[in-house]
Amino acid sequence: MSRRPLIAGNWKMHKDHLEAIDLVQRFNYRLEAEDYDAVDIAVIPPFTDLRSMQTLIDADRLPIALGAQNCHWEDSGAFTGEVSPPMLARLNVRYVICGHSERRHLFAETDEIVNRKVQAVLRHAITPILCVGETLEQREAGQAKDVVVGQLHGALEGVGAEQVRTMVIAYEPVWAIGTGRTATPDDANEMCAMVRSTVADRYAGSTGEGVRVQYGGSVMPGNVVALMRQPDIDGALVGGASLSADDFAVICRFPRL
Ligand code: 13P
Repeated sequence: MSRRPLIAGNWKMHKDHLEAIDLVQRFNYRLEAEDYDAVDIAVIPPFTDLRSMQTLIDADRLPIALGAQNCHWEDSGAFTGEVSPPMLARLNVRYVICGHSERRHLFAETDEIVNRKVQAVLRHAITPILCVGETLEQREAGQAKDVVVGQLHGALEGVGAEQVRTMVIAYEPVWAIGTGRTATPDDANEMCAMVRSTVADRYAGSTGEGVRVQYGGSVMPGNVVALMRQPDIDGALVGGASLSADDFAVICRFPRL
């Protein structure tokens, strides 16, 4: 089965809405129609940029999908400071990152919270980008696979095969995020294949074949081709390099490099 690669730029807490417009316009100038034909491309800015991004994407008919970095699991209510999936759906948000390691580690998100978010996002026909990955200590202790398998089962509790098939799962080893230290293509592929086989074991083989598994962690113009050549890696979740129009455009053009 051929899976269409998804390159998504997670901007984290960078770029106000004016900077966001400038960045996406400059990025788009660097791409041609055939680039957009070969890969799905998404930008995942802070909440405050989403409305401006939606307007720009609509007005200029850009083939770029919009994502959000987080959300609450309820539709509405007394949850000061939170943003709900239906609010994001109204902004044509196509993807929501669930369980990024920064949220797990800095904001104490548990597998149970991540699971609620995954279910809520799916209820509103938005695609979760479920993030999993081990820390350096866990890898050095030989626990990488067990940690990732545990995160997957925790996040997929109560989620049906038909829904999982539509999801994106991002394997992001914590030690590779923002460090410039990328997993080797072979290691990254082995973990992405393991993610896929965990999904296949939990549901059915065809569910594992359909789900897109991204790699994330210091993806850059210089390493994207080797990573994307791997059979079980279906795209990249890009942090730092997605803040540069030049670098993100080169990454998105990987099929032509
Ligand atoms: P970097 O590409 O900056 O390592 O970040 C990866 C990441 O966390 C994407 O979600």
